[in-house]
Amino acid sequence: MSTIAYKNGALQMEDVPLEKIAQKHGTPLYCYSAKRLTDNFRAYQTTLKDILPEDKFTVCYACKANSNQAVLHLLGTLGAGADVVSGGEMHRALKAGIPHGKIVFSGVGKTAEEVETAVKNDILQINVESEPELERISAVAAKAGAKTRIAFRVNPDVDANTHEKITTGRSENKFGIDIKSAPALYRKAKGMSGIVPSGVAVHIGSQLMNLAPFAEAFKRIAALVGELRAQGNDITTVDVGGGLGVPYQGETPPDVKKYVALIRDIIAPLNVHVILEPGRSIAGDAGVLLTRVQYLKEGGDKRFLIVDAGMNDLMRPALYDAYHAILPCSAPAPSDATQTYDVVGPVCETSDTFRTNMELPRTGQGALLAIMTAGAYGASMASAYNTRPLPAEVLVSGDAFDVIRPRQMIEDIVAADVIPERPV
Ligand code: LLP
Repeated sequence: MSTIAYKNGALQMEDVPLEKIAQKHGTPLYCYSAKRLTDNFRAYQTTLKDILPEDKFTVCYACKANSNQAVLHLLGTLGAGADVVSGGEMHRALKAGIPHGKIVFSGVGKTAEEVETAVKNDILQINVESEPELERISAVAAKAGAKTRIAFRVNPDVDANTHEKITTGRSENKFGIDIKSAPALYRKAKGMSGIVPSGVAVHIGSQLMNLAPFAEAFKRIAALVGELRAQGNDITTVDVGGGLGVPYQGETPPDVKKYVALIRDIIAPLNVHVILEPGRSIAGDAGVLLTRVQYLKEGGDKRFLIVDAGMNDLMRPALYDAYHAILPCSAPAPSDATQTYDVVGPVCETSDTFRTNMELPRTGQGALLAIMTAGAYGASMASAYNTRPLPAEVLVSGDAFDVIRPRQMIEDIVAADVIPERPV
């Protein structure tokens, strides 16, 4: 059963009416279902256990999707590792209790300080995105007297058929090394003092709704592993990245079981430790953004619901024209007439629009709305643009709910600026 559904006239997350949470903690407010996070993670974990021994895979949750430490901690207790893309995320993951040996570090622009932190913490693997980065990692590791396990993130030149701004595996994208240059780079890495080139990594994009691009990328990676082994590289890990999509608009996402079957058929025969980096498919449908209608503005051809969440709280519609369903938190009666609304935020930008021309049961000032499927790339991408405090976040578990991040205080934002004393 869905963890978000109408019950007794109210939209509930697990056993709590969302209105109750909003009344207690205000809006805009992110709410996440612990049960849904758990179920989504277990879908990977249990399916993988069917095909691989437990010490042969690690599900490294992609922290960028939702990096709240309560979320990381919850997933960590279920056995998750972490895919991090910055020193900040690494710090968060470690602090939330993810073991260092289950952390992979991806990202195109790792600084020397970040590499040092990774080396010092002896993480599972650094995913290397370029030759100069390889040199930096080797230098940092050698200085620390360490040998760091690396995988090159290989760009397999596969089109993920997803939104242009979140596709990463085509040759024209900035990510990874060209698959053709991989053998030479592994040869080079093998001779470097601070480096153990033990893995191959790939990630072709996000919000994929079709498994075919994964199959194609995995085949290219498997062939590469064969080639690398033939030239004497001891490849012991394959990181297949993340990317499974979630339904935003009622679409059917790829089935985790079928995705894992691809791993079974193409990657498992390589007898490697398999790393996965799912983000959205774990956190996406576990979260909603609650927002209250401030004004109903009518006039001209449009009817605007002006809500208290803005593009700074949930950037996806403004950035990717992303669709998010919006539901009223009190159940409409079947007889309620619908009207057409544009749901817009208060930020001074035209792109601060969540939906245009959407049909909703007649509603107005004071109504609470839930912007659905906002658990991934919602709070983690929020900003304080327009000096709007970062929203609060709540974790729901059964009939209980806890604040896992208090609303940012305007005083804290303002106090961070420094006006120089130097006369102008
Ligand atoms: N691994 C790597 C190397 C990645 O770059 C990403 C996502 C993931 C794993 C996780 O992918 P997922 O399973 O979540 O699809 N802000 C955009 C999504 C950007 C994804 C960036 N990389 C959005 O809101 O749609």
